[in-house]
Order: sequence, then structure tokens, then C-alpha cells
Amino acid sequence: MKKDFLWWRDGIIYQIYPRSFNDINNNGLGDLAGITARLDYLADLGVDALWLSPFYPTPDADFGYDISNHIDVDPRFGSLQDFDDLLHASHERGIRIILDLVLNHVSNQHPWFQQSRVDSSNPKEDWFIWQDSIPNNWESVFGGKAWTYDEKREQYYYHMFVKEQPDVNWRNPEVRKAQMDVLRFWLERGVDGFRLDVFNVYFKDKELRNNPKKWGRRAFERQHHIYDGDQPEMESVLKEMRSIMNEYPDRYVVGETFFATREKIIRYNGADKLNAAFDFEFLWSKFKPKKFLKAIENWESLAEETQIFPNYVLSNHDSPRPATRYSKSEDDDRAKVIMAMLLTMRGTPFLYYGDEIGMRDISLKRSEIMDPPGIKYWPFNKGRDGCRSPMQWDDSVNAGFSKEKPWLPVHSNYEQRNVALQEKDEDSIFNFTRDLIALRKANKTLISGKIIIPSKMPYKIMSYIREDGDEKILVILNFSNRKRKIDLPVGESWHILFSKHEREGKAEKEMMLLPYEVLFLKNS
Ligand code: NOJ
Repeated sequence: MKKDFLWWRDGIIYQIYPRSFNDINNNGLGDLAGITARLDYLADLGVDALWLSPFYPTPDADFGYDISNHIDVDPRFGSLQDFDDLLHASHERGIRIILDLVLNHVSNQHPWFQQSRVDSSNPKEDWFIWQDSIPNNWESVFGGKAWTYDEKREQYYYHMFVKEQPDVNWRNPEVRKAQMDVLRFWLERGVDGFRLDVFNVYFKDKELRNNPKKWGRRAFERQHHIYDGDQPEMESVLKEMRSIMNEYPDRYVVGETFFATREKIIRYNGADKLNAAFDFEFLWSKFKPKKFLKAIENWESLAEETQIFPNYVLSNHDSPRPATRYSKSEDDDRAKVIMAMLLTMRGTPFLYYGDEIGMRDISLKRSEIMDPPGIKYWPFNKGRDGCRSPMQWDDSVNAGFSKEKPWLPVHSNYEQRNVALQEKDEDSIFNFTRDLIALRKANKTLISGKIIIPSKMPYKIMSYIREDGDEKILVILNFSNRKRKIDLPVGESWHILFSKHEREGKAEKEMMLLPYEVLFLKNS
């Protein structure tokens, strides 16, 4: 790989939801040693970094996003020694490790909260947001008021998510220091970066004012969230974090921008703030070139003004998987089109475990639902369990994920859809993804070249040129299930760079694309 390759900008980041990846200790939950055991698979796929969703001790009110100790490993997932082994083995393969830091809130079982709730004169009494009565109209994201009465302390505390996730008081300097110590703990252990969970809601309005109302379906959506997040103090925290990160070479911090907007992305990014802030437009786009192009154009115009390098998130542990969003059947045509788009973006691609084999969401009966919003809002919202099912490694019992009953059911398609089978199948989405990752690595133009979007495109066709100096790569994606005729841009002679349809050599000026065809051409 070229010298100027910056892993977190130019590489591919692969998110692992540890409890669903690979279970070595056979307790039905994936574990850290399980990830280590699959590193060769990940290296072969070609990913550059792993973002690990939380594996810290947790009572599982929000499946790991309610942490009761930020600097340890939940024994169900292994030990700190297992973590060190994973880190070491990843680094040996040139794979970086990004941890998920949840610093907006803790579990109500965390010693900080346990101490804080004792009375209003203990040393941690101000570590959370306590009030004698409910001071405002703030709602929690997963349903219900954001204030819950604590019998012991005889006061209300604030929680943006479930009541078992009290928000910490970032205005307290001791809290701030304790949080920074968490960063230092993991940096000292050698981690390469962090993903900050809902960072932009760390601070709430000092006066706890009411949010203005707006139209929306759920109570949380019926407010403009101007007072329960995005407060001016946030930037100074990012600056402090970045200065800590800068004490270590080559580190990275990406923020999960809650209610991402263009303004927020600009505000929180920068040489002295975040390296990157997520935007989620790809996650919500319909299967229409126009929708994806809008997301790309937004990033591009922003990048022009600010030099911010885009990032593209195709899926994560909070949303239905792309193959589920875009396909009704088991065929992977549409999933491949989307994967090809992601891997030819001028921006860091984020992949979610299992997307490389086109995993589908599981569907659960009401009684099987684990996720809090699913329990609260079923059947309107069935929660996020669907995209968190165990990784499908092979066709053995429990898809090779575990010898014990997995914490969530394995998808019923696992005998036909699994890594072992797809590795052997030339046409599988696994081999398609792997080939495209390798192609991206071999063609710097695909990583950092300009993206040029033509003003007109034939119906249901998405095409764009990636350009670096004299080199041009033309990406053509047929979003339709029909054959479509296209004329290639004039002034260049094009040859086939990537095709799964035995196209070779020079391209004709006029081409007939097959249904859902993915085609890359290079100028010569
Ligand atoms: C955002 C995370 O992505 C989500 O999974 C979690 O439930 C909330 N933050 C609360 O931590």
C-alpha cells in the first residue's frame, strides 16, 4: 500500500457487534477470543480497521450501551488479557482497533451512579443530572419521559435513553476528568481509535429549558432538540480529547452525530476536534440513484468548503441491513449494486459484519424481542434485534457461531447463506465484496480521486467518474431489473476494469447493461 495511505481515511472500517460475531467460550454470546480466531478471515476480506461495539461489563439494559465499568471486559466476552491478545493479533495483520466509547451515560449499576444516588451530600452527588421535580418537557429516545424518580435519593435524574442509562453531568470537572481517564486507559493499552456514542448530547442546556414542539410521530420526534443536545461546551471537550489523542501517533476519533446535519458535521470536525463525524443518509436512502446521489452531492459540497473527508455508512447495529432494506428475495443483485457504490465512494466506507455475505435481518415474535424500543413500540417499531443476529459462518449447528443456543436466533437461511459456502462460490456477494475491496486498494483513484457526477443519467442508472490526474474510472450501476442502454462519455477510450459478466477489453461507445449490472471502466 502506498506511503500516503492513512488507515482511518483511506481504509475500510468494519463494525463488529461482538456478542454476535463468534462464540468461542460457548455461552451463546460472541466474545473477544472469537474475534481473534476470525482475524485471518477479516484480513483476507481486506478490511483495515475493526470498530468493536461495547464489550465492557454491562447489565444489558441496552445490550452493552449501558456500561457498568468502562475499563474492563465483561467476563461473558472474555478478559483484558483477551483484549490485549486481540489487539496484538490484529496489529500483526495490519488491522487497527477502534473502540466504542459510551460517555454520555452509564448503566444505573455503575458505581458512579450507585454512589450518586445515595444522598445529595456524597462526593459524587453532582455526577448526574438531579432535580427535585421534573423541570421540563424532555423525552427519552426510547419512549417515555427523560426524567425518572429515584426512591433512594428522592429526586429525579435525567436519561436520554432508557431509565437504566442515567446521563452523566459533563459540567462537573471531576466527571470530565474521569471520562478523559477512560480514553487514556485504552490509548495506553494501544487502541487505535474511538467511536464516540452520541457525543453531541453530552451537554444539556444549563437552564434545562423546554424544547420547542414540532410535528412528529413519537413524543421524542415531536420536539426540536435544541436544549437537550448540541450545546456550545461540546467543542471544548472534543478539543481536549483530540489533544490527548495527539499524544499518540496515528490515532482516530469518529463521532456518532446524533441527528446529523451538515452544520453539525462542520462544527464538530477539524484538525483540533473530531477526525470524522458520521452522516447517515446512505442508511435511510431508498433504492434510487437520485437519493444516493443527493447524499454524495451533500458530502461533496461540504468537502469543497471545508476539506472534510466524507464517510459513508451503509449499515450498523441500529438499522435494518442493506440486503433487507433493498431486497425482498434471497438474491443479492441489489445488495451487490449498493456494495459496489459504497466501495467506489470518495469517502471512508463503513461495513457492518455479515453484509459481505448479504445477511438479512431476522424477524422475531413479540415474545422474543430483546431491544428496548422494540419492546416499547411493537409492532410499529420492532426494535433493532433484526440486524444483530449471529454471524453465519457455515452450515453446521447455529451457523458455526456457537455450540450453545445463541442469544438471538440465527437466521433460518444460514444453511444456504454462510461464509464457508460463499468463499467457494465465485459469484457470491462475499467474493464480489472481497474483489472490490482489493480493486479499491489497487486503484488509488478509487480512494482519493475526485468524484464527478454527470448532470444527466439514463433512468435508473447511476454513474460517476473517479478522476486522479489523467486517470479516470467510470462507475456504472444499473439500479433496474431490466436491460438498459447507455452511451459512454465521449472524448475517452474506455476499457473494462471490473465486470462479473465476462466483458473484457475495450468498451463499445454504446453499451447494453444487464439487469443490476455493475461495471467499472478505465480510460486508456
Ligand atoms: C447510539 C447507539 O448506536 C445505540 O445502539 C444505543 O442504543 C444508543 N446510542 C445509546 O447508547
